[in-house]
Amino acid sequence: MMFKKLNILDEKDKRLRQTSKEATFPLSKEEKKLIQSAIDELTYSQIEELAKKYDLRPGMGLAFPQLGINKRIIIIVHEVEPGVFDNYVMVNPKIISNSQEIIAAEAGEGCLSVNRDVEGHVPRYARVRVRGFDEDGNEIEVRAREELSIAFQHEIDHLNGILFYDRIDPKKPFFTEDEIRLI
Ligand code: NI
Repeated sequence: MMFKKLNILDEKDKRLRQTSKEATFPLSKEEKKLIQSAIDELTYSQIEELAKKYDLRPGMGLAFPQLGINKRIIIIVHEVEPGVFDNYVMVNPKIISNSQEIIAAEAGEGCLSVNRDVEGHVPRYARVRVRGFDEDGNEIEVRAREELSIAFQHEIDHLNGILFYDRIDPKKPFFTEDEIRLI
């Protein structure tokens, strides 16, 4: 199996702070190839043996700007049960509705562009409905909850030049269970 690691931009790279442009169809061969590479790498990164073999930090999502391409395309590989993955590729995603309820990942969030631990809770909607297009330009809609909801919000933030720690309140980086639900 041939596997070449993606070149993922580091947080210091200013390109991560740009607002990405809408992608247009048909996607190019290169764009489709990059999507497949991202799916592969995210999947491998969540399989311990392969993560070790290829020296991959576990991650469940990537956005095109992290690969140096400022287009609105996100990829999420969600492990629904051990060793079973659901892939989501969404082009020009938009959150069309969200829950009132706010949650946060108890252990904080991570990002493949942020090569350090950043402590603090990132408030996110517990549930979102996201509409966009698949790779072939068909309209799709996803209802995401819990960690998948967090992943969609995190990746869509990348398209708007936002990194997860921008949403950590420096005056109050941590919440209690009484304030928001920690997952
Ligand atoms: Ni990220």
